Amino acid sequence: MGKMKAVVKATAEPGAVLQNMDIPEPGPKEVLVKVKATAICGTDVHIYEWNEWAQKAVRALPQVMGHEFSGEVVKTGSGVESLFPGDRVSGETHAPCGKCYQCKNGEQHICANMILFGVHCNGCFAQYAILPEICARRIPEEIPWEFGAMMEPLGTSVRAAQEVVCSGSNVAVIGCGPIGLGVVTALKTMGAYRIIVTDVSEDRLAIAKELGATSILNPMNCDVVSAVMEITDGVGVDSFIDASGNVKAISDGFKFLRKGGRVALIGLPSRPLEIDLVSEVIFKEAKIVGIHGRKMFETWTVMENLMAGDLLDLKPIVTHVLPLEQYGKGFELLKQGKACKVILDPWLEE
Ligand SMILES: NC(=O)c1ccc[n+]([C@@H]2O[C@H](COP(=O)([O-])OP(=O)(O)OC[C@H]3O[C@@H](n4cnc5c(N)ncnc54)[C@H](O)[C@@H]3O)[C@@H](O)[C@H]2O)c1
Ligand SMILES: [Zn+2]
Ligand SMILES: [Zn+2]
Repeated sequence: MGKMKAVVKATAEPGAVLQNMDIPEPGPKEVLVKVKATAICGTDVHIYEWNEWAQKAVRALPQVMGHEFSGEVVKTGSGVESLFPGDRVSGETHAPCGKCYQCKNGEQHICANMILFGVHCNGCFAQYAILPEICARRIPEEIPWEFGAMMEPLGTSVRAAQEVVCSGSNVAVIGCGPIGLGVVTALKTMGAYRIIVTDVSEDRLAIAKELGATSILNPMNCDVVSAVMEITDGVGVDSFIDASGNVKAISDGFKFLRKGGRVALIGLPSRPLEIDLVSEVIFKEAKIVGIHGRKMFETWTVMENLMAGDLLDLKPIVTHVLPLEQYGKGFELLKQGKACKVILDPWLEE
């Protein structure tokens, strides 16, 4: 058995360590993937900092960090029939039980007993990773490794864009992190008319503009609600997608949503949101949908087709590609708001 480099959350305190460990063996219905690219997500930052959420979510330490990745299948465990060594795959992080009500009724992406890859078990900030067969999604040659590593977060963006039915309509995107920016490029491709984006970071607003946003608004220096109403001739947007998780920004969204409009919520607010249901939902006939991950696997199919057809602009979202050893730098850049998507390459020499 060979050895591999891995970024490990070793102890219940902030930070992580780079370790040399045994390459794991795939068990029944599992595959061993040689990780070609892996991406740092906000969830990883929470685990790295070991905040309250992470302390509750992570079940056991030490644990290999990371959940967004692409790579090549190198070995399959017993009973694996759909994948073979050499297959290019991207990781789906929602590992379904296959037995619960949701799993049996076409909603395995929100399985009641879901195991989250890289949160509840070892992840992919390593040279190799073990994935359940069902979560290793084969991807076409046209998708480069670094974009393959972004498909997990991008899938929530693509799905949100699909949910609001955007062709020819006015859509607002709240928050321009990797998720919101993925929404912007998806909306552009799907034919949205106006794409109004908000963020408090000018750097991120600039990326949104590059991806095709038609109006960029910074709540630090304008009243977002009146600005959106003005842009939409007093009507309000046909839909908004929240990718900020900011309570004030979401409640503003319900104010600038037009009557009969649609809402897709992706961002995770850290506290409950107060909303006037009568005026902002019921009389408005707002249609609200929560998004948790990607439909398995309808969203993947659409996303793959869009990516293979070069219909999504992902390059501007990737601000850094670093060797795995520089994970600490990646986390610091993200914490300081100096990066958007940071990709770690486990095979790049320092
Ligand atoms: N539902 C899901 O399946 C799912 C999946 C992945 C991420 N998420 C959540 O989606 C959200 C976005 O993820 P991300 O990785 O892009 O995170 P991120 O933190 O990089 O992006 C959030 C963005 O919102 C901006 N923001 C903060 N306050 C704002 C305000 N008042 N108005 C407008 N923008 C504001 C931030 O500047 C930042 O650019 C997070 O809350 C994350 O936890 C949900
Ligand atoms: Zn993620
Ligand atoms: Zn289930």
